[in-house]
Amino acid sequence: MGKFQTQIRKLGIYTSGGDAPGMNAAIRAVVRIAASKNLETVGILSGYLGMLDKQFIELSPRGMGNIIQRGGTILKTGRAPDFHKPEVRKVAAENLKQAGIDALVCIGGDGSFRGAHALWEEHRIPVIGIPGTIDNDIYGTDRTVGFDTAVNTALDAIDKIRDTADSHDRLFIVEVMGRNSGFIAAWVGLAGGAEEIFTPEVNTTVDKAVDRIREAQKRGKKSSIIITAEGQKPGRAYDLADAIRKKSGLDAKVCILGHQQRGGSPTANDRILASRMAGAAVETLLKGDCDLMVGTEGNQLVLVPLEEAISHEKKTPLDYIHLANQLAT
Ligand code: F6P
Repeated sequence: MGKFQTQIRKLGIYTSGGDAPGMNAAIRAVVRIAASKNLETVGILSGYLGMLDKQFIELSPRGMGNIIQRGGTILKTGRAPDFHKPEVRKVAAENLKQAGIDALVCIGGDGSFRGAHALWEEHRIPVIGIPGTIDNDIYGTDRTVGFDTAVNTALDAIDKIRDTADSHDRLFIVEVMGRNSGFIAAWVGLAGGAEEIFTPEVNTTVDKAVDRIREAQKRGKKSSIIITAEGQKPGRAYDLADAIRKKSGLDAKVCILGHQQRGGSPTANDRILASRMAGAAVETLLKGDCDLMVGTEGNQLVLVPLEEAISHEKKTPLDYIHLANQLAT
């Protein structure tokens, strides 16, 4: 955790990395809470890219009308691979200081937090992180903004796929997002009644999946759904379908849900989470504390050092996958 003495007058806010539903609700809440404490808020467009190009815009509380229900991010987002270079971060820090920005709220995932932590460490720019990613893969928080919406979007698709799978007695492989993490897969698999769940962290094998489907068929099950995260080990969904076909002769239809999981109107849970985290972010900065992420533990908000959040991996709880397996009889 960092401590600073400077009085904040102008707050900078940016969204960075993959967009997530609820980011707008967080931006709205930061701007409005900051205004209620007599702070100005400046929006930095396209994450670190805008910090480097001086893409700064004024944000007014009234201007935040009608965005709470919108997916995506009104501030745009981007990935800035060059930001890992200290000389690039120095340019960003100079731009921020020149614009009179005293402190930052960063909404994003672990890559974004790495940049934020470095801005504090190297240039003493106070920053607070709000975890915003559909992947829910940030250590130190039970939930990230966007996860609940993404799970519900994927679940809605799976329910529809189930109708056609059932009508044709088919096996479907549905690929959900999660390059390095199986949270969406585990949640959607359990909530959607999947036969098998493949995630990057769990060593589910094609053999095991085939056995499970064969056993289910013997029990009279005619259609099945396998959920797979995009980063799981046997490969992407089409590779998995090939491997299953070669192993068993079972023909699997593949459906890749893709980026639709990142869009759409945020659920009530995500709007509330974003608004609560935003409130805590502004309050924390006003106390002179920084280099922290606002997280949740159960339903409580907690503050976690950014360094801790970026240096640990958060693993998908295996009990969700085991329970889904148990229930798929
Ligand atoms: O937002 C997280 C995530 O959706 C990952 O699950 C996925 O691998 C990645 O972003 C894809 O991001 P992009 O298409 O923007 O590179």
